[in-house]
Amino acid sequence: MGMTDNQIVEQYSSVVSGILNELPVGSRVAWLGQKHPSMGQDKLLYDSIMSGVNNDLYHTFYDLNNEVYEGSVKWDVHSKWDIGGYDLVLGLRVLYLCDSRERLLSNLKNISANNDTVIFDFMTGNPVAINGIECFMKKNSSPTILPFFEELYEGSFDVSSNHGDQIVTLQHIKSSGMNIKNILTFRDGVKRRFYTLCEVESES
Ligand SMILES: C[S@@+](CC[C@H](N)C(=O)[O-])C[C@H]1O[C@@H](n2cnc3c(N)ncnc32)[C@H](O)[C@@H]1O
Repeated sequence: MGMTDNQIVEQYSSVVSGILNELPVGSRVAWLGQKHPSMGQDKLLYDSIMSGVNNDLYHTFYDLNNEVYEGSVKWDVHSKWDIGGYDLVLGLRVLYLCDSRERLLSNLKNISANNDTVIFDFMTGNPVAINGIECFMKKNSSPTILPFFEELYEGSFDVSSNHGDQIVTLQHIKSSGMNIKNILTFRDGVKRRFYTLCEVESES
């Protein structure tokens, strides 16, 4: 596990465990971009979160590479997210698979309207110093979403996109009929990205 992963796991785990512990017993939880734990892959964050959970919950795992384990669904992040009826939807580190702001906002709006609570996280690209100001961008012409929540970042920063449907600001979220309730915003000490873990609420 890389240094950055360590820091993210450390920051997210206890907060997300706490959210899961507070759900009523028997609540239904959907994990987006998460293989079924029985597959034994890509589960460091999942294991770390679940090691702090002492609540009886029903978990369903949505992932492109999910197989036939009960409680798992084959799901493509690039499709329409047809996911409803859960007490909690967790979309952790799914953003870096998304490459269209328009599609992401429409999917977030849909799941926040159709589930009780949605927790999602937004991570920036790496900053590059340009004329003395840190500018967030995605390397190698990567098309993936670049969040820029200036209001939550301490300091003065800039952002530079690779295409017109890449940057997501709090204004974009607001004008799509959603609100962000910030749970945690921090910068990792290695790549110096900003991470925002938040609750996404639909206004309608
Ligand atoms: C998105 S990351 C996040 C993993 C986990 N939620 C975490 O934070 O540790 C890796 C996961 O995304 C899945 N994945 C890759 N491409 C995908 C796609 N197009 N749609 C849905 N899931 C995808 C991979 O199978 C892998 O389980």
